[in-house]
Amino acid sequence: MNIDFLARRKALLAQVLEDSVIVLASSSPKVRNSDADFPYRQDSSFFYLSGFSEPDSLLVLRPSAKEDQFVMFCRDRDPVREQWDGFRAGQEGAVSKFGADKAYSYSDVNELMPKLMDGAKNVYYSMSSPNGIEAPLSDWITTIRGKTREGSVAPQNLLSLDLMLHEMRLKKSSDEIAIMKKAGSITTDAHIRAMESVRPGMYEYQLEAEYLHTFMQGGARHPAYNSIVGGGNNACILHYVENNALLNDGDLVLVDAGCEYEHYASDVTRTFPVNGKFTEEQKAVYEVVLEAHRQSMAEVKPGNKWNSPHDKSVEVITDGLNDLGLLKGNNDYTKFYMHRVGHWIGMDVHDVGNYKVDGEWRDLEPGMVMTIEPGIYILDSLEGVDDKWKGIGIRVEDDVLVTEDGFEILTPDAPREVADIEHLMNS
Ligand code: GLY
Ligand code: MN
Ligand code: MN
Repeated sequence: MNIDFLARRKALLAQVLEDSVIVLASSSPKVRNSDADFPYRQDSSFFYLSGFSEPDSLLVLRPSAKEDQFVMFCRDRDPVREQWDGFRAGQEGAVSKFGADKAYSYSDVNELMPKLMDGAKNVYYSMSSPNGIEAPLSDWITTIRGKTREGSVAPQNLLSLDLMLHEMRLKKSSDEIAIMKKAGSITTDAHIRAMESVRPGMYEYQLEAEYLHTFMQGGARHPAYNSIVGGGNNACILHYVENNALLNDGDLVLVDAGCEYEHYASDVTRTFPVNGKFTEEQKAVYEVVLEAHRQSMAEVKPGNKWNSPHDKSVEVITDGLNDLGLLKGNNDYTKFYMHRVGHWIGMDVHDVGNYKVDGEWRDLEPGMVMTIEPGIYILDSLEGVDDKWKGIGIRVEDDVLVTEDGFEILTPDAPREVADIEHLMNS
């Protein structure tokens, strides 16, 4: 997909105050242990505006400057380092491939940034993901201030870029939606493959392997977040990531896994029986979650508030738990359902964008994408619950676009009805 990064930069610059400099830093590589790093992932906003995925980079936009309005700092070409660590675009590539008007070596950033900021009244940066820019920014301003008798003028205002940039990222374009659908379809393939291959006696991580295999075969190099593969009671641990227990006959397995495709996340949860057949109790709880999923999703439409789907999920789950005799008249559903029904999703799995505006839950608008993921979790250790329900943990999650007149599921084809799951698992 061809993303128009220049158009994004222009749209951002149309919103900033006059006499401004915008500074965004790349994210840093993260050490896993000793000489081994986690896979590098560029900061989402940095990539959103540049398409540039190298560390040690700085993006500088100077809309009021007479020349060099888009400046990039990046790593130098270096045959030895490139032989060891991989290709670098270098300053020439930053100009020719990424559209910078001027590119400099990252090693010159402290010398040159005070000059590039000199005379600008406002400096914008991302307060929510500064990527270590705050201290150098302050040093650069101090350097400018130290030269006032030579005619330098230090910036007056440090401003947050977040509201403008996050609102842009929150409303997805048709190209972004196409990428998210592709991410969703690879993730769907993975859930289908997992349902087809799970067997009692497998380890949770062996089921996880089916997901990673399908993601990569489908063209997605990385998962969007650490996969949660929890059998039985482990399904009740919301952020379970050990994934190292045996999957037992008679248990459900909850898998919350999604790939990242071209820097966009998918986030899908399916819960299915390890042996291919739901028990009566598992099915009864599953149907409550699925009904909450259906009815919450129906609340996704322009003009409804962000909170409408969540409120609906609470209503349906509370009614369902009462019908099953699990609440016994008190309506404290939070022992069974302790998270919200969803979150924004985009380049980050928990994407940017405010949920309230002026103190009120915001209106849903076309182009926003959110998850719908109600769940019921009945821990083994939960007191006052009949044993037959214990160790059942269920979540059903899909990625949902707000359209002009309602919603569209971006992950429509991952089986979620009991009959469809059982049919797939036993055919
Ligand atoms: N996979 C993280 C979440 O569902 O929010
Ligand atoms: Mn999830
Ligand atoms: Mn989610």
